Amino acid sequence: MRVVVAGTGYVGLITGVVLAYIGNKVTCIDVDSNKIDLLNNGQSPIYEKDLDKYLSLARDNLSFTTDNNCYANSDVIIIGVGTPERKDGSANLDYVYNVCDNIVKYANKDVVVVIKSTVPIGTNDDVLEYLSSKRSDINITVASNPEFLAQGTAIHDTLYASRIIVGAEDDKTFDIMRKLYEPLTKDPYNVPYLEMDRRSAEMVKYASNDFLALKISYINEIANLCSKVGANIDDVTKGMSYDKRIGSLFLKPGIGYGGSCFPKDTKALHWLSKINDCELKLVKDCIEINKKQKLVLLDKLREYFKSLKDLKVTILGLAFKPMTDDLREAPSLVNIDMLLDYNANVTVYDPIATSRVEKIYGDKIKYAKTIDDAIMNSDAVLIMTEWQEIKEYNVDNYVKYMNNGKAKVYDGRNCYDPKIMKEKGIYYYSIGR
Ligand code: UDX
Repeated sequence: MRVVVAGTGYVGLITGVVLAYIGNKVTCIDVDSNKIDLLNNGQSPIYEKDLDKYLSLARDNLSFTTDNNCYANSDVIIIGVGTPERKDGSANLDYVYNVCDNIVKYANKDVVVVIKSTVPIGTNDDVLEYLSSKRSDINITVASNPEFLAQGTAIHDTLYASRIIVGAEDDKTFDIMRKLYEPLTKDPYNVPYLEMDRRSAEMVKYASNDFLALKISYINEIANLCSKVGANIDDVTKGMSYDKRIGSLFLKPGIGYGGSCFPKDTKALHWLSKINDCELKLVKDCIEINKKQKLVLLDKLREYFKSLKDLKVTILGLAFKPMTDDLREAPSLVNIDMLLDYNANVTVYDPIATSRVEKIYGDKIKYAKTIDDAIMNSDAVLIMTEWQEIKEYNVDNYVKYMNNGKAKVYDGRNCYDPKIMKEKGIYYYSIGR
């Protein structure tokens, strides 16, 4: 099938590469010519495991362009552009409609427009109305096909997806979508394939992401209470996870969730619930809890040091999670902002996200190339991302390199065993233990 994917961010690019890999002729289009130039030179604009490999495996079926003429002659157009958060929490659909305007101008035959971007319930219907009102000479239909990939495992999450959800309102569109995804529903992928109406498909995405965000916020609250009442969250979550109804995933307490989805999707669903006079109070609380959770280490630091002025603080881990250089809604950034506000001296380290942080803070903070350098003479270390390198770091070095050997480690990702840290004489604060 001839497929155009609009947007070469995480969702668009991975979708394009995978659909090309399974045999479709795919053109990825983006308004950002720098990204397209990189991709045409065989380079990926994002850091994602296995992406280079699959870019090369799918090369014969894949092209990249900024030219809107690609919308002509396509069977399927997939919209995978960003839907960033507006100030009021709602999703900004400008990029989706920009693509629609180009489809209106350039499409020249019947086509299925697939919305993969996360959009408020009802958007697919609105998009159909918009497109049909402008092009009655061809038959444009719209399908909702939300994406569930997580950064760092995006290719795997797409090839071996937990499920493919397709929302449409007519048989022909369902047929085309089935054909598009057929290879993934068979061996060796065997992805479950679910069909439903468009509004339900849109809701599956928000309801899933917000449920996971709720799960994290719930366990963060339980962890905070564990700290107060002398229980250990590791044992608590282990004990909970044996109940199959609860499971063991997304029960890891920490310094709060970040990334491009959970923060945005919780706010967007809350906004939608409010304007429909059916406020989702749990989601509202989840947003609040997460905002507070991002600052728990800093609260603890202030409790001990009272004044943070000129205190040498090291932040280990900047990305919102390991295996990505993405900083969107990363807890590290709010902590850096607060520390600078308190006039602390901040040094940061991350295996791959440092240059992105440098673009934000310039010479306001210091950038270390190794963990050793980052913690040298530091008064306190705050761990924000559970990179393997940080988890495997020789903790003796905290004593060796930190100020006067009086190591103070505040760990937002529970990287170390509290017993070992105690044996080494390191002050160690982690979440819920
Ligand atoms: C998420 C969803 O997993 C994915 O299905 C959806 O399509 C997009 O949003 P992603 O944002 O890439 O993917 O990351 P994810 O691995 O889900 O982690 C999100 C945040 O939650 C990270 O900041 C992570 O550190 C945090 N998290 C995750 C926890 O704090 N505890 C957990 O147990 C799991």
